[in-house]
Amino acid sequence: MTDSPSILPHLCLCILDGASEPFLPEALPALPRVSEPSNCPPQTSHILWWGEEGLALGPVHQPYTQATRVDFADPGLLHRLRTSGKRQGIGKAAGLDKAKHVLQVLDATAGLGRDSCVLAHLGCEVTMMERSPWIHALLEDGLRRARESNEPLVQRAVSRMRLVRGDARDQLRSFAARGESVDVVYLDPMFPPRRKSAAVKKDIGVLQGLLGPDEDLEELLQLALAAARRRVVVKRPPDQREIPGPSPTFVLSGKAAHFSIYVNGGMNDAAD
Ligand SMILES: C[S@@+](CC[C@H](N)C(=O)[O-])C[C@H]1O[C@@H](n2cnc3c(N)ncnc32)[C@H](O)[C@@H]1O
Repeated sequence: MTDSPSILPHLCLCILDGASEPFLPEALPALPRVSEPSNCPPQTSHILWWGEEGLALGPVHQPYTQATRVDFADPGLLHRLRTSGKRQGIGKAAGLDKAKHVLQVLDATAGLGRDSCVLAHLGCEVTMMERSPWIHALLEDGLRRARESNEPLVQRAVSRMRLVRGDARDQLRSFAARGESVDVVYLDPMFPPRRKSAAVKKDIGVLQGLLGPDEDLEELLQLALAAARRRVVVKRPPDQREIPGPSPTFVLSGKAAHFSIYVNGGMNDAAD
């Protein structure tokens, strides 16, 4: 597996008093375990904690107020699912306005899984790849709770989502080695900040604090371009330039994000 600096932050695991039997994804038992945040070793930057609502991640000094978790039934995400469509935003960027068959999407930068969830809700079969074991653990926990949710919209979406732990660059390289491809590769990496004051949403702020910017954007884009049968979609903040490399075929500009689309083939061309 490709080495990544993102897997070496200083984390502790805290099981809150009175919380139910913890669901501990594979990576977590290796972490130092404490009974409360004040008992963490001094170098600790973040805490993963288990409470009644599942697994959450927060900076050690504000673990609860700044915590983030994967919640596919969150009202904000539900609103996004109800108002998303194939002819707008991420749906249009992925080519759903044109595709006449189910699209296989590789979300190579899964993060908290929200974009994957929207794509799955719109009918795509989504494979999510996440290389940080801690974010992967949040996703695993979020998917587990979503499968038990009584919200049909969420249940349907997560039934089309599959989670893989690892660096997507490895997966994309092995596609190339085996001559395989996927309809769409979706990228929403953490760009290096351009303006110190640029405001980011709380959840992304926690991820940035834990992981820092992704430093391998050019390589990820190149590998994605080699593996995508139909297109690569890059989501980027409006104040960010394109990833260096080939120019996108077209850009869909939005208030919160721009989508740069690199077309490799038609949405309905026969698969090889
Ligand atoms: C900005 S977040 C993605 C947010 C996501 N689109 C969402 O809707 O929640 C970027 C994530 O991509 C992950 N990532 C970046 N490069 C990766 C790679 N090469 N392979 C797997 N995961 C990667 C980072 O660890 C981080 O969790």
